[in-house]
Amino acid sequence: MRAVRYHEHGGPEVLQVDEIDRPTPAAGEILVEMRAASINAVDTKFRAGTYGSVSLPAVPGGDGAGVVSEVGEGVEAFDVGDRVFAGGMGHDEGGTFAEYAAIPATKAAHLPESVSFEVGGAIPNVGVTAWLALVDRIGLRPTERCLVHGGNGGVGHAAVQLGAAMGADVIATAGSDETREGVQDLGAVAAFDYDSESLTEDIRDATDGDGVDAILDHRLDEYLGLDLAVAGQNAHIVSITGDIPAVENAPMQDKQPIIQGMAIANTPERRPMLRRLARLLERGDLTAVIAETRDFETVGDAHRTVSEGGYVGKVVVQP
Ligand SMILES: NC(=O)c1ccc[n+]([C@@H]2O[C@H](COP(=O)([O-])OP(=O)(O)OC[C@H]3O[C@@H](n4cnc5c(N)ncnc54)[C@H](OP(=O)(O)O)[C@@H]3O)[C@@H](O)[C@H]2O)c1
Repeated sequence: MRAVRYHEHGGPEVLQVDEIDRPTPAAGEILVEMRAASINAVDTKFRAGTYGSVSLPAVPGGDGAGVVSEVGEGVEAFDVGDRVFAGGMGHDEGGTFAEYAAIPATKAAHLPESVSFEVGGAIPNVGVTAWLALVDRIGLRPTERCLVHGGNGGVGHAAVQLGAAMGADVIATAGSDETREGVQDLGAVAAFDYDSESLTEDIRDATDGDGVDAILDHRLDEYLGLDLAVAGQNAHIVSITGDIPAVENAPMQDKQPIIQGMAIANTPERRPMLRRLARLLERGDLTAVIAETRDFETVGDAHRTVSEGGYVGKVVVQP
């Protein structure tokens, strides 16, 4: 079968298409004929060799969607021919940028008929990240105000939609007029320029001075100071990237913020959340905006697009 691989770390040019053996599903796995997979920001870091450890040569791709073509021993949840979407693969176990991928059944769920493979392949990792942050960690409630940094990014655009579906007022940041308009179309009540000098005041004004109840932060080193400045009383800040920097006069006793880190890798079983996401997708409360679709031959360009940013949603790769 054809698969994208890299044999050494480096820029997008290290990605190449190889002919390799089709995997055999082990006990507890399903073999999925991949129809679409997506690039997550972390894939560019694994490729560059700046994050985690990867056994080379590596097949990239941590999520995707397709059709079950074989069922491993002991798997009862799926049959051959089922449409599925899955997340949490790749790097050390064979990724989704291949014609077939052997996927642990616990990381997959049925993809509703009404949802395309592109959307199903783009949503798993960003949707689960947004779910773990907003639902499990924060427990966001209707009418609460939630700040989503980088609301146009993969995780951000899923979080904007999920927060709105939960009845919260989502305030997002994004880098251009076009992407700010895009996040408002997805349900954000306000969108501000992350480079604006008045960002702190803009966010506080959007909450009538009360401050936000919840924050999803993807660059804690850069934004913890701002987070604490715009936080309301007992605000909950969840960080998906970055260390805690020193913040002068942090209002720790005044506002009593809860600052929490999280990583989806700590939740290997994905099916329960994917099943919930499937229902949101089916209801039209959630989608993945597909900014660009590429094939295996142009996957390097797809990685370049993700590194440059400036779009809403996700970049998808199809065999
Ligand atoms: N802990 C976890 O479990 C977990 C899970 C998923 C992702 N992550 C991490 O979370 C981060 C975001 O992931 P992603 O997949 O959403 O990435 P992404 O799709 O590349 O989105 C990145 C977002 O950051 C924005 N951005 C760029 N420069 C910024 C700045 N100076 N200030 C504020 N925002 C800025 C981008 O805006 P532009 O488009 O304007 O550049 C875009 O909205 C990555 O670091 C990823 O590795 C962690």
